[in-house]
Amino acid sequence: MKHIFKQGKKELPILLLLHGTGGDERDLLPLAEMIAPEASVLSVKGNVDENGMHRFFARLREGVFDEEDLLYRTKELHQFIEKSAKDYEFDRDNVVALGYSNGANIAASMMYHIKKSLKGAILFHAMVPRRGVELPDLDGIPVFIGAGKSDPLIPMDETKVLVENLKDAHSPVTEFWTNGGHELRREEVDEATRWFEKNFL
Ligand code: MLT
Repeated sequence: MKHIFKQGKKELPILLLLHGTGGDERDLLPLAEMIAPEASVLSVKGNVDENGMHRFFARLREGVFDEEDLLYRTKELHQFIEKSAKDYEFDRDNVVALGYSNGANIAASMMYHIKKSLKGAILFHAMVPRRGVELPDLDGIPVFIGAGKSDPLIPMDETKVLVENLKDAHSPVTEFWTNGGHELRREEVDEATRWFEKNFL
């Protein structure tokens, strides 16, 4: 997968950056710089092309995922992280995802489907990746969820289901709500920075 790797302090988690629809591997670099400036970064570009816009998995229409592709791409990303850990000599078990929108959705999908794939995750404006499945145990795997109360793509109830699913799997979840929409707000980033420092520094 097309990506950027940036070496940071060895003892910190590696931030896995996952952009939103239409973005690329450069998009979230400034965000990583704000949240964890000293951490290593593996920033990946989604392999799916939707009319020239890059994504991490296919969708049938807005908000309706192509489940088969989601599962395939989730595994593909997981394997890419494994390969990258060997290539760049980082600890595979110390990867924290930082995803926005479509990127947050595939990060959530990794947590739903693959045990110990992530050490933690910051999910900005994420949806429920899949319904009716039993999640692996997420005890000790903290998740930060940033959401907008007026997000036109993600109703509040959808975010609440995501939070419940993760909590049911024993993840310590931190929710942070803004009055905004689907856009990422500075206050969420500041709160996620505090969350990262508390959990990983
Ligand atoms: C998705 O398809 O992952 C969500 O609808 C968010 C987005 O628009 O990318």
